[in-house]
Amino acid sequence: MHEPDALAKLPPENIRAIAPYQPGKPVETLERELGITGAIKVASNENPLGPSPLGLAAAHAALAGAHLYPDGAGHRLRAALAERLAVTEDELALGAGSNELIELLVRTFCRPGVDEVLSHRHAFMMYRLAAQAHGVPYRETPVDAELRCDVDALAAAIRPNTRIIFLPNPNNPTGAYVTAAELERLLAKLPPGVILAMDEAYFEYASMIPDYPVAERYRSAARRAIVTLRTFSKAYGLAGLRVGYAVGDPMLMGYLDRVRMPFNTSSVAQEAARAALGDEAHLQASRAANAAGLELVGTGLRGLGVRVYASAANFVLIDLGRDALPVYDALLQRGVITRPLRPAGLPNCLRISIGSVAENRRTLEAVRAVLGA
Ligand SMILES: Cc1ncc(COP(=O)(O)O)c(C=O)c1O
Repeated sequence: MHEPDALAKLPPENIRAIAPYQPGKPVETLERELGITGAIKVASNENPLGPSPLGLAAAHAALAGAHLYPDGAGHRLRAALAERLAVTEDELALGAGSNELIELLVRTFCRPGVDEVLSHRHAFMMYRLAAQAHGVPYRETPVDAELRCDVDALAAAIRPNTRIIFLPNPNNPTGAYVTAAELERLLAKLPPGVILAMDEAYFEYASMIPDYPVAERYRSAARRAIVTLRTFSKAYGLAGLRVGYAVGDPMLMGYLDRVRMPFNTSSVAQEAARAALGDEAHLQASRAANAAGLELVGTGLRGLGVRVYASAANFVLIDLGRDALPVYDALLQRGVITRPLRPAGLPNCLRISIGSVAENRRTLEAVRAVLGA
C-alpha cells in the first residue's frame, strides 16, 4: 500500500499547485448541517425561473433515446445555432458547458510551459484553473477602481508567447463589462496570432446594454482569431445539462473538434438546448425578471450602506469593507447561501445571484439583519 504522502506526490507540480474549485454550497448540505428547511441559494448565478419549458419538454422526449450514443457532432443543435447566428455550422463548436470550451481552447492551442494565457485580475477563475491544469503559464493584468478590465493594460501586456486572451464580458464575479470602444482599442493592438476568447456566458442579459459589444460582429477576414463562448446555463436555465458553444473561424473550430471527446455533449442536452433556443417567451421572461431583480437587490443593498458594483449579468458583487466571511457565515445561519470571494482575491466581497422575487426579498432581509442596518 502507498503511504498517503507518496500518493500526494504522484501528480506533476502544476497539478499539485491547483487550489480546488469551491462551488456554491448546495441547499441540501446547508439544511442538513443546520437541521433547517427552506434554505435558499443565491450563489451560482442560476436562472430562478427554472429551465426553458420547451427545453424541458425536448429533454423529456430525448430521454427515450438514452440508450443510443448522441450525435457526436451535435448536428441538429449546430444547425439551429447556425441559423440563429447567421454563421455556418463549421463556425460552431459545442461543449459540456462553456467551461469545457475554455479548457479545450487551452488544451488545443497552448504548448505547456511555452505559450501563455492572459486575462485580467478578478476574471472568471476557470481560465487560471484550465491553464494550470495543463502546465500553461497564466498572467493577469490590472483592473481599475471599479474592478473593470483595463484594456490598455491588457493590450500592453501581450508578449510573443501570448496565445489566448480570455476576456469575460461581462465578467464573473464582478459583473463588469467591456464597452464597444474599449474592445475596439484592444482589437487595434491585437497581434494576429493571439486568440481573443470573448466569454459571453451572460450575453443574453448584457446584450440589451447599448454600448455592449457583441464580439462575433468584430470577427472578420482581418480578425480571424476572435472566438466567442456562450452557454445555455444562464438565461436558458439549463446549467444542469451542461451545454455551451463556441463561435469562431472554421479552422480554429476544426482544431477544437479534433481534441474534444467524441461525445462531449449528451443527446438530452443537445435537444434541450435546441428547443430552448427557440423559447423566446422564457428568454424574455428571464431577462425581465433579472432586470427587475438587479434593480431591487442593488437598490436594497445600497440602502443598507453596502457598496454594490454595477452589474451587466445576473448577480451583484458587494464589498462589505471588511472580511466578508463572518457575514457569509451569518447569512448561512439564516438559510441564505451567497458566494464568498476570497478565492477570487476579493476577501471583503460576496457575490449574490439574482433569485426569484421572494428569494431577493429574503436575501435583502437577511443582509439587513446580519449587518444590523
Ligand atoms: C464568465 C463565465 N464563463 C463561463 C461559465 C461557465 O458556464 P457553463 O460551463 O455552465 O457554460 C461561467 C459560469 O459561471 C461564467 O460565469
